[in-house]
Amino acid sequence: MYDTIGVNYSQVRQPDPRIAKVIDLALGDSKTILNVGAGTGSYEPADRQVIAIEPSLRMIEKRSPSAAAAIQATADRLPFEDGHFDASMAILTVHHWPDKEAGLREMRRVTRNQIVLLTFDPSHRPWLIDYLPELADLDEAQMPAMSDYGRWLGTVTTTPVLVPHDCSDGFLYAYWRRPEAYLDARIRSGSSSFWAIDNVDAGLQRLRQDLDSGDWEHRYAELLNLEEYDAGYRLVIAPAR
Ligand SMILES: C[S@@+](CC[C@H](N)C(=O)[O-])C[C@H]1O[C@@H](n2cnc3c(N)ncnc32)[C@H](O)[C@@H]1O
Repeated sequence: MYDTIGVNYSQVRQPDPRIAKVIDLALGDSKTILNVGAGTGSYEPADRQVIAIEPSLRMIEKRSPSAAAAIQATADRLPFEDGHFDASMAILTVHHWPDKEAGLREMRRVTRNQIVLLTFDPSHRPWLIDYLPELADLDEAQMPAMSDYGRWLGTVTTTPVLVPHDCSDGFLYAYWRRPEAYLDARIRSGSSSFWAIDNVDAGLQRLRQDLDSGDWEHRYAELLNLEEYDAGYRLVIAPAR
């Protein structure tokens, strides 16, 4: 899928510095880091030794020449010996893995200290779902439940990652205070969910009408005064084993 999505990815999915800081802090003082499902290299700390794992050649090609070295592979078979890295990270990717448990088991195997994941809680219902209810079905189908991480990794801590109103990373629910963005096909192309659901036209048509009539602004008025928002994104940290 990411050989197709990769076309616009690096333009519409610029890492957001505030989210980068949260991830960087979670990585603590680790020096060697594995980034699984690394894509074009977003959120890879520049001041540490990083190796990226990414299955899509298109995404690898879009990585900056200064980005960490990338190996084409999948999470469930990591080509490293046990305990090779201080820490590992997997950002907005676990939901794409066919065997999530095997991928996380592999991350645990090759990581001495913390594993840092950014994911979405599929029980959360951001307002976009009011227009595109099929997103809730997709989230439920592909996103692990938050309780799965403890089952797969042992004790974990889970913290909300608030999304700034002007977030530069255009993941699915990033535009919570910029609703008109969802009417732009180029912006939608940066989110795999829009590639996975059919028939968005009717829902987007309703959104357009509600924006034109002022109904959207009226219904979600409380969002307009917020600088950041809990859209359902969660940082999951599994400590050293
Ligand atoms: C939404 S992108 C996130 C990329 C990057 N981590 C970021 O934050 O921009 C999801 C990535 O997961 C990768 N992916 C899909 N299946 C995978 C698997 N089985 N193992 C590892 N990565 C996978 C995709 O190719 C894609 O690059």
